[in-house]
Amino acid sequence: MKIAVAGTGYVGLVTGVCLAEMGHSVFCVDIDEGKVALMSSGISPIYEPGLEEIMVKNMDKLNFTTNYKEAYKDADVIFIGVGTPEKHDGSANLCYVYSAAEQIAESIEKDCVIVVKSTVPIGTNDKIEDIIKTKLVHNVNVSVASNPEFLSQGTAVRDTLHASRIVIGVEDSSAGEVLKEVYKNFGAPILVTNRKSAEMIKYASNDFLALKISFINEIANLCEIIGANVDDVAIGMGYDNRIGNRFLNSGIGYGGSCFPKDTKALHWLANFHDYELKTIKAAIDVNENQKLKLIKKSRKYFDSLKGLNVAVLGLTFKPGTDDLREAPSLVNIPIMLEDGAKVKAWDPVGINSFQKLHPDNITYCYTIEDTLKDADVCFIFTEWDEVKDLDLSKYSKLMKNPIILDGRNCYSLTSVKNANIIYDSIGRETINSLETLLV
Ligand code: UGA
Repeated sequence: MKIAVAGTGYVGLVTGVCLAEMGHSVFCVDIDEGKVALMSSGISPIYEPGLEEIMVKNMDKLNFTTNYKEAYKDADVIFIGVGTPEKHDGSANLCYVYSAAEQIAESIEKDCVIVVKSTVPIGTNDKIEDIIKTKLVHNVNVSVASNPEFLSQGTAVRDTLHASRIVIGVEDSSAGEVLKEVYKNFGAPILVTNRKSAEMIKYASNDFLALKISFINEIANLCEIIGANVDDVAIGMGYDNRIGNRFLNSGIGYGGSCFPKDTKALHWLANFHDYELKTIKAAIDVNENQKLKLIKKSRKYFDSLKGLNVAVLGLTFKPGTDDLREAPSLVNIPIMLEDGAKVKAWDPVGINSFQKLHPDNITYCYTIEDTLKDADVCFIFTEWDEVKDLDLSKYSKLMKNPIILDGRNCYSLTSVKNANIIYDSIGRETINSLETLLV
């Protein structure tokens, strides 16, 4: 089967490469010539574990091109995997999806199935079908199918090759059969439904996970007030398999390119239809507040961060990715700088992108030790393994005031009890094992 994929971001590129791994011949299309040249030489423009290796292994089945006409004209199946960023009003910006649809309509010369993989508001597949049918140049039959993506950044390849489910939303059964054929080697359960239900499955899944995180974060905040331990609470809840033990890690809120955008987009869509999604609104509000949790905690120790050496561990929205979108570091570091703090930051892969936003006023460090040296306080924003595995005695040895504000609960309370530090995390008691209080 000849497959084309529009867009080579996280969704498009991972989809294209994994389809090649499963035996298909795949044309990956992007407008960025530099990116296409890079991918053609076997280099992945995004950091995603395992992606480059599979890409290199399947170069004989992969083509990267800016020439969309060539890629689309005789394809059996064309996936749309371009971005749907958030607009200022919270709705999804669909201009890239629509422009890909127009390019497809003017290029295809044989019958094909057009598959929307980008996360799009419910009803968008119908509009895409209208655009394509209106703009078709050649007399061909097209079907539009919704096939949402459930991959997570950092585990995108594994999530695609070993998918929990494949959801296919179609209005005609023959398109469903074509997609079943595309996915026949994936070994995942396949659900065939109508297009709107498939679109809704994507939003409902992401928004439910976001809600789960905001729920446990609220419980964590209450645990702090009443003296309970949220980690134990989450373990206790998780034994009930109706609740499940995943996505119950409390912290400084969810970030990334999906949960913040998809919660706002579904809420916006419901509002548009005069319906208020109260649970989703609560998830969004809790998350906005949660992102500021560590800055608020810092006020317990210092009236202001003015003139203090602040160490920041972790910049990306989660470990295993260089993506900064909606990362808590983006909200917190400007507040520190505004306060007049001297900020030193470490991240194993996120520094280059962060430096583009803040080129001058932050000292970027390539080791955790350099970051901690002489610091008055340390903020942990991302639970990188390097942070979790750190010898805890380094905090007291290197920092001026070993006050650790941990937004990701990287350490067990037992382990910090002998570390000679003040350790303030999320939803757990604050440990002050300092022999002498330094502040
Ligand atoms: C998310 C979903 O998990 C994927 O299923 C979905 O396909 C993807 O969005 C998408 O729509 O493309 P992703 O944004 O890559 O994937 O990252 P997650 O691992 O879900 O983490 C999102 C945020 O939630 C991170 O900031 C993470 O730190 C936070 N999180 C996650 C928590 O605070 N607690 C948890 O228990 C889990």
